[in-house]
Amino acid sequence: MFTQIRIHLGTFIFVMMFLTVSPLSNHHALVKVYDPVMLICNSTCSGDVSWMFSVRTEILVSECKRSTCVEGNGFENRTRFVHGGPSLQLNPVMYNDKGWYVCYCDKAEICKFHLDVVFATLKSVCVGENVTLPCYANTDKRIPDKNINVQWEKDDQPFVTLQRGKMSYGPGFEGHGFITASQYKNGDLSLTIPKVQQSDGGIYRCRHRHEEPGQPEAVDLRISESSECGAVKQSTFSMVGSSAGGCCHCCYFLCCWSFLLIFYTYIELSENTTALYR
Ligand SMILES: *[C@@H]1O[C@H](CO)[C@@H](O)[C@H](O)[C@H]1NC(C)=O
Ligand SMILES: *[C@@H]1O[C@H](CO)[C@@H](O)[C@H](O)[C@H]1NC(C)=O
Ligand SMILES: *[C@@H]1O[C@H](CO)[C@@H](O)[C@H](O)[C@H]1NC(C)=O
Ligand SMILES: *[C@@H]1O[C@H](CO)[C@@H](O)[C@H](O)[C@H]1NC(C)=O
Repeated sequence: MFTQIRIHLGTFIFVMMFLTVSPLSNHHALVKVYDPVMLICNSTCSGDVSWMFSVRTEILVSECKRSTCVEGNGFENRTRFVHGGPSLQLNPVMYNDKGWYVCYCDKAEICKFHLDVVFATLKSVCVGENVTLPCYANTDKRIPDKNINVQWEKDDQPFVTLQRGKMSYGPGFEGHGFITASQYKNGDLSLTIPKVQQSDGGIYRCRHRHEEPGQPEAVDLRISESSECGAVKQSTFSMVGSSAGGCCHCCYFLCCWSFLLIFYTYIELSENTTALYR
């Protein structure tokens, strides 16, 4: 009886979580500077639509009144309403576009969208390699371990947190990557991910003391497939065998070859010597 109530309560909380979280998560985007972004608004509007950029005051992004559209100052030639709906494409995104966007339908607020823009340092690695994503900050050299607090996020989701000397991982990232606590005192908050997979690609950000960003503010990790990864390695390996045993085969091949060379020289030398004595 109680178990049943608990299960129902659990389901209820679970459903509520999704109901409250999913619309919010759709109203936020993290983009790289100069990339395009879609300010999504799923409501319908048959009247005049306007998007405002909300900083200290609201400034116009774009508005359409009876099919005549006007772009705001600083947003010229960068906006486009998609499918006639209130959703708006911003292309390209500028660094100072970060903030809140509000969509109005005949002056009634229908949508809100939060945009975060980063300048990300590019890091390209091959599948299977170990990678260290750099992050530096002016940390306290004498901080006790228990007060260290470092967070890394991947595509705005918690990735790994170092707190009270313990590392904890965001859902789906268990045991993936680590921060070296002893380096924190040197201002090094870098994240190491061993044996990267294709799914590790994304935008990573580090923070410490809860909200303070490190340098660089973001890293764009790109994972290359084998074609771009050491084309030389691949072609050498393919001559002698599969890439898994490729290295051993390669060593074996080289070893045999040098042995033959030495042997041949020896034969030739001894032949010359014999010829000399004859
Ligand atoms: C809005 O519509 C898009 C495409 O139809 C959908 O992927 C998205 O989940 C919707 N967002 C919300 C908040 O309903
Ligand atoms: C926008 O495009 C028009 C027409 O191509 C051009 O005359 C204008 O200078 C552009 N404005 C900005 C701010 O780039
Ligand atoms: C990657 O890191 C692991 C330890 O995490 C180490 O054993 C391995 O040799 C490293 N591989 C390369 C290619 O550096
Ligand atoms: C052996 O002798 C030939 C000519 O007699 C010479 O061309 C060759 O270099 C010699 N080989 C060695 C290993 O000394």
